[in-house]
Amino acid sequence: MTTTYAVLSEGLEKRFGAVHALRGLDLAVAEGTVCGLLGPNGAGKTTAVRLLTTLLRPDAGSARVAGHDLVREAAAVRSRIGVTGQYASVDGDLTGRENLRLFARLHRVRGPAARADELLARFGLTEAAHRKASTYSGGMRRRLDLAASLLRRPDVLFLDEPTTGLDPASRNGIRQAVRELKADGTTVVLTTQYLEEADQLADEIALMDRGRVAHTGSPAQLKSLIGSFAEAVVASGDALPKAAAVLDRITGREPVFDRERNAVGAVTTDSTLTLPRLVRELDAAGVPLLDASLRPPTLDDVFLRLTEGSERSVDHKERAA
Ligand SMILES: Nc1ncnc2c1ncn2[C@@H]1O[C@H](COP(=O)(O)OP(=O)(O)OP(=O)(O)O)[C@@H](O)[C@H]1O
Ligand SMILES: [Mg+2]
Repeated sequence: MTTTYAVLSEGLEKRFGAVHALRGLDLAVAEGTVCGLLGPNGAGKTTAVRLLTTLLRPDAGSARVAGHDLVREAAAVRSRIGVTGQYASVDGDLTGRENLRLFARLHRVRGPAARADELLARFGLTEAAHRKASTYSGGMRRRLDLAASLLRRPDVLFLDEPTTGLDPASRNGIRQAVRELKADGTTVVLTTQYLEEADQLADEIALMDRGRVAHTGSPAQLKSLIGSFAEAVVASGDALPKAAAVLDRITGREPVFDRERNAVGAVTTDSTLTLPRLVRELDAAGVPLLDASLRPPTLDDVFLRLTEGSERSVDHKERAA
């Protein structure tokens, strides 16, 4: 079976004056999958979403989204996709129901009233449907925004940080909605600051750094790239060098110290290293061991390791605030 891509971009570029926000974005998202777009602040995630949803025109490069050329067939792309932005776009002066009905009519959805009510119910907003959106909590607004983006049953849904700043219950609600959409066959591209969210939802992660996709893979693949983290906690600081020497020998990597916890650890990609062997080796070397662990990396570790050395850009955050 050949893979059909809902999103396939090649060399997308975007400059804002002197800022080269996208420097050749190559992204492939298979139909019916969830792609997590991750990266440090300023990596170009929002710019990528805005380009791929036709809100911005690329300076160079090309892409097909939902089977259509991004630039030449922008209207067709727009008719097949849904998008919710990093900053919610509902009208506070209208009620939840009015917002959805308005969007539905703008987009010529058949049976706008019924479709609006169906989505209000799906996102737990039926009770609040008659209230102005300005009285909604952040989580309710985000859910309304998501409902609006689903009015037309898009083939590809782009979500830019859909859960940022929400409480755990609202986050879970949105995550559940993403799972249901995927089960319905919708392709989802989502950016997120929460690594555990990408871990839970994404089939494939594209790790962005400085305007490019730096790494792609399943969450498990990205983790295996890093290996595990072996750590020893010792009874006193004097024993740290001895423990470090053992870790250095068995991992072949330079150990890192956490002197506050009397701990020393090292990354290892040696899949034959087990916790019992780690403990045996430390013990045999006479290390007064309090605790030892061998843990798989979190996506945070992956993220930090694979985007090491990237300049963190915060200027635009301040501007947006
Ligand atoms: N309209 C604009 N004008 C000028 N510079 C911009 C504009 N939009 C984005 N940029 C710059 O482009 C770069 C990429 O920004 P973008 O918003 O795409 O990053 P991001 O990965 O979404 O970051 P965050 O995690 O903070 O949301 C940043 O350096 C930003 O300052
Ligand atoms: Mg962003």
